[in-house]
This record gives sequence, C-alpha cells and structure tokens, in this order.
Amino acid sequence: MSAPIDRSVERGDGYYIVVEEVKPRVQVYKLVDSKIRFFESIWEIPEGITYNAYVVETDSGFLLIDGWKRGFGGLLVEELGKRGVLSRVTHLIVNHMEPDHSGSIPEILSARPGLKVLGHPLAGRLLRDFYGFAGEFKPVQDGEVFEEGGLRIRFLHAPWLHWPETIVTHVEDLGVVFPCDVLGGYGAYREIFLSEMSEEGRKRYFKLAKMYFANVIGHYRDFVLKSLPKLREAVSKSDVVAPGHGLVLDRGDALEMLSSYEKWIKKESRKIVVVYASMYGFTGEAATRLAKVLEGQGFEVVVYGFNDYERPMVSELVSDAMDAEGLLVAAPAYENQIYPTIRYVLDIIAHKTGCPRVFFLHVYGWGSRVGDARSMLEELKCGVVETLDFKPSTVSSMTDSQIKRVIDFFTRTT
Ligand SMILES: Cc1cc2nc3c(=O)[nH]c(=O)nc-3n(C[C@H](O)[C@H](O)[C@H](O)COP(=O)(O)O)c2cc1C
Ligand SMILES: [Fe+2]
Ligand SMILES: [Fe+2]
Repeated sequence: MSAPIDRSVERGDGYYIVVEEVKPRVQVYKLVDSKIRFFESIWEIPEGITYNAYVVETDSGFLLIDGWKRGFGGLLVEELGKRGVLSRVTHLIVNHMEPDHSGSIPEILSARPGLKVLGHPLAGRLLRDFYGFAGEFKPVQDGEVFEEGGLRIRFLHAPWLHWPETIVTHVEDLGVVFPCDVLGGYGAYREIFLSEMSEEGRKRYFKLAKMYFANVIGHYRDFVLKSLPKLREAVSKSDVVAPGHGLVLDRGDALEMLSSYEKWIKKESRKIVVVYASMYGFTGEAATRLAKVLEGQGFEVVVYGFNDYERPMVSELVSDAMDAEGLLVAAPAYENQIYPTIRYVLDIIAHKTGCPRVFFLHVYGWGSRVGDARSMLEELKCGVVETLDFKPSTVSSMTDSQIKRVIDFFTRTT
C-alpha cells in the first residue's frame, strides 16, 4: 500500500512542500525553498533550491533516505506523520551528513526513537558530533548489499563528493539511484522530473545544475573523475536518478549530466573568462577591449565586470570559469594591494575550478604591484601566468605588441 500523496502544499512564506511518487513505491518529499538567497551562505541563488528527501516502500515498512535542512525537521516529521509513513519507517539512510539534509535527523529520531540509521562508517561519528546521536547505527561498506523488506539495496562509497562520508544508495530492485548531492541542481522547482520541462526549461536547468556542481562539488573535481565509472555503472542499471536537490532525472539525462561533468572538469572548450574590477572605468576599458580582441580570435569570451553599477553573481562566474581554459583578470591597484573583490573572486575560482592559465592585467596610479599579483597567483597554485601593467593614461593607447602578448598567451598550447 502506497502512502497517499498530494502534489503541493502551499506554506505561503516562501516555502512549499511537494510530495509525489517518482516511481511505484518511491516518493519524493521535497521542501521547495524560494526564500534562500545564498546557498552555503556564499552562493547567490535567486532561483532558490529544493531539499529532496525520499521514502521507499518495502514489504516491512518504509526507508527514509535523507531529510530536510536544519530548522525544518519538525515540518518533515509532520508531513511524514500525516501520510501514515512516520510510524512505519524502519530505517533512515544518510547519504551524507551536511545539515541541508541531515539537519532534520534530531526531530525524526525524537519522533521515532528506535529508528535504525545506515550510512558510511564515518557518518556514525559525525552523527554523534553533530547531533549527540546515541542510537543504533549500521555502517555500510562500499558495494555492500543490504536486504530489507524484499528489496536489495546496494551502497556505494563516493568519498569527497562532496563530503568525506558521501554514499550513493542504489535500490536495485526498483531501478532507482539516490546519488546524494551529485547530479543535483539549484532552482525552486515544483516539477519533479527534468523530463517535464520544455526545451528552454531544460537548458535553464542544465545551467543551474552546472552552477551547483561548480559551487558545491567543484573543489573535489579529481574525486569526481575517480568516481565517474562507479556512478555511470549504477546509473546505467537504473531508470530513475533521484538527487538531494533539484529535479529527478531519467537514465539518459543522468548519463548526459555525468558526461558534462567530465567535460567541464577537463576544460574542454575554447573559452576565456574575463574578470575585472574597476572603480573609475580605466581597468574596465582595458579588459573589455581585450575581451573583444580575443573574441575576434575565435574564443568564446564571457565577461564579468565588478564596477560601480554591477556586481555579477560569483556563483555564476565560478560556473563559467569551471570549463574555461583561460582567465583574463584585470584589477586596479588598491591601497597597496590587489583589488579586494578580485582577490576574493580569484581565491574562489582557484579553489573551486583551478586556474591553469591566467593573464593578469594591472592598472595602477602611483606604483606597480604586479609582483604582488604574481605571488598571489603562485600561492593559489595557478599554472601558466603572465602579467601586464598599465597606467590609467596608457589604457587607451594599448600597443599592438601588448595586444599580441595577450593573444599569444591564450593561443599557445603550453
Ligand atoms: C581607493 C583607491 C586606492 C588606490 N590605491 C592605489 C595603490 O595602492 N597603488 C597605486 O598604484 N594606485 C592606487 N590607486 C590608483 C588606481 O589604481 C588608479 O586610479 C586606477 O586607474 C584605477 O582603475 P579604475 O579606473 O579601473 O578604477 C588607488 C585608487 C583608489 C581610488
Ligand atoms: Fe552536500
Ligand atoms: Fe545538499
């Protein structure tokens, strides 16, 4: 017997709850958060986000996979309770311990004190450290099969995607993979499936999924590459892929997204991201001029300018930098330092996407600081680096040889 479902319950305060079947015996309990502005208190997400918990019906009750963000546990308990699920949940599976999913564990456990919890061996310690958990915990090994209520559930370890104790839960008998944050995306969607979206909506979602990937998982890109074969295998054996955020994917879409991950990480593009800051326009003039020159050379060029009218979203910038083969960064000198916004943004880019090729353009009034730029880029472990200095008056009289240096830098293969 499946729990009764209603598609949408409006809360009226920027949060919505959507409960719907994603497959017979599998339901999503989705908290739609259109109020949030900064995910992880960093990333600008005007489109909001969803936290997806899942309920799987077995012959002996229900498995609960993940939960909602810290602060919403009571609401999740209420929703599970009014559908008759709560009293029949036998196991809670914790795919990772980040509190945007695990934050409702304390309320769930106080409503169902005997609940058995399953997760990566490390999750047992984190449960104690985060929530003082002292209940029954079953650690699961990589590849382990757990049988419950007539269903075979295989657990895969996916270390550092993006927490050390991340696991992927594969309910083999139902053909559903729950890949935790992997294959998730931003967006406060009431829809359940990516396949429900129009062509335009689909494009938009891929953009939001790319932003989510770069922002949240990007730093661990080497681990993503290592886990790709395992993820592909599990997805290939399933019909439905149900991540912790965003839309549920069918097999084809999930495989397409995994291939996109690989392309983005390997920076397989002829794309250059231009990032500049400019107080009075000199640096902006230099950067936009060079952006046009590079565009003329056949590069795809995306420009992000921080100026007195515009403050681009760093969440989007990082996502564009993810698959760009080069960065052109332009900054004015500021109180004997590299301009603070540029330091901040470069630090994030280097950390989340790496910076194998950076041309740094510096505009100064009373003293060159390109030495500082070099050591900053070295410290950030950027690869090939070149710098160029301008005084405000020389920005508009950029020489052919200066322009050629920039073109050559991005055209060179080493
Ligand atoms: C608040 C402030 C601090 C500055 N600090 C420095 C500095 O430490 N060293 C320097 O050479 N020029 C400094 N300058 C000069 C700027 O780098 C110069 O005006 C540059 O053209 C600014 O570029 P922009 O027009 O793109 O803002 C400073 C300018 C301002 C407004
Ligand atoms: Fe997470
Ligand atoms: Fe998450």
